[in-house]
Amino acid sequence: MAGTVCIHDLYFRRLMDGDAIATRVRTLGEEVSRDYAGKRLLCLAILNGSFIFAADLLRVISMEVDICFIRLSSYSGADSTGKVTTIFGLTENIAQRHVLLIEDIIDTGKTLHELLPVLHEKQPASLQVATFLSKPGARRYPIEASYTGFTIPDQFVVGYGLDYNGLGRNLPDLYIRTTEEPQE
Ligand code: IMP
Ligand code: MG
Repeated sequence: MAGTVCIHDLYFRRLMDGDAIATRVRTLGEEVSRDYAGKRLLCLAILNGSFIFAADLLRVISMEVDICFIRLSSYSGADSTGKVTTIFGLTENIAQRHVLLIEDIIDTGKTLHELLPVLHEKQPASLQVATFLSKPGARRYPIEASYTGFTIPDQFVVGYGLDYNGLGRNLPDLYIRTTEEPQE
């Protein structure tokens, strides 16, 4: 994969490659497997961004696990304008279940700040968050995950499921926004 990619009008440089991501996701899977040993886990993966992280994390979790993909209101552009409203696709009854919410990135924290109380109301046995990325520098709401893949600077990123206006989700590596144009 190239060191710099251009998506729409922006340049992004490679921040970490797929191998480094796989190594970290494997470690997260081991932690989850250890913490939930003997329990049956219900993962709720938030679409679209978490689909690749969820697929990789699920395959390194060793105990019994159900997966349900949910969708919230969409996010567009390079600023967090997202307004969380309804949860779509929550076909499982989460009452008395051990629920692990799978998110691609915690940016301002607004999404989870609004979503977590809605899920808590449904009285799960436990409710934790696994996020691939976290940008602590962008946080406006006091949200932290139990499992965080990587902490990154407050810059826009794409790849490994994350997009910039619809593109970039299929990049196996993670790229971060740069103002520098690529060297020819
Ligand atoms: P929050 O509500 O501000 O925490 O933002 C959460 C959502 O914004 C994530 O689930 C992403 O969909 C999106 N988002 C935030 N930062 C980025 C980024 O750097 N790249 C792509 N999507 C992002
Ligand atoms: Mg998202």
